[in-house]
Amino acid sequence: MEFKNSETLKNLTRAFAAECQDGAKYQYMADMATQQKLKDLSTILKGLATNEMAHGKVFYDYINTQCPGGVEMVDIKATYPMVYGDLVKMLEAKGENEQRQADKIYPEFAKVAKKEGFDDIAEKLLQIAKIEQNHAEVLKKLHTILKNGSMYAQDVLVKWKCMNCGHEGSQKKAWKKCPICGFDQGFVKIHLTAEE
Ligand SMILES: [Fe+2]
Ligand SMILES: [Fe+2]
Repeated sequence: MEFKNSETLKNLTRAFAAECQDGAKYQYMADMATQQKLKDLSTILKGLATNEMAHGKVFYDYINTQCPGGVEMVDIKATYPMVYGDLVKMLEAKGENEQRQADKIYPEFAKVAKKEGFDDIAEKLLQIAKIEQNHAEVLKKLHTILKNGSMYAQDVLVKWKCMNCGHEGSQKKAWKKCPICGFDQGFVKIHLTAEE
């Protein structure tokens, strides 16, 4: 199968568009978090944006490798979520979106790529699907703790760390202002897993 006539070219174009949109949306969400003084949440979201732009580049570069100079126009039909709302709602929607990419969209694209003889990109798609699975878990966790108010307040002693000055302290609730540098609570590192 010639790449320029393949469904894989269309799928990679769809995936590239999705990754760019995800990257942009995480940037917007990072800005929302900054405005709400949730600095560490903003940092996490910026990290996700960086990941998505990197995924987009993998797809973009693959197209260029297969068709040196790229393709003038790729005609695709595609659907993308356009949910808009506050951070709680956006985190939920993005988590669902990542989950769809991880267990439906990219495995399906990988299957088509394999069938068309593009084994290397099929493998990349499956590896990126695993990263999207991690993203889904991070977003679901962030959604839960922001929604139920446990991001900086728990029922047990927690070791909190100020990401500005490095101060650490064990208490149930994170300080409103860091006792060392005076920076806001939003600079305190968010616990994404129990062990952290
Ligand atoms: Fe991605
Ligand atoms: Fe992702």
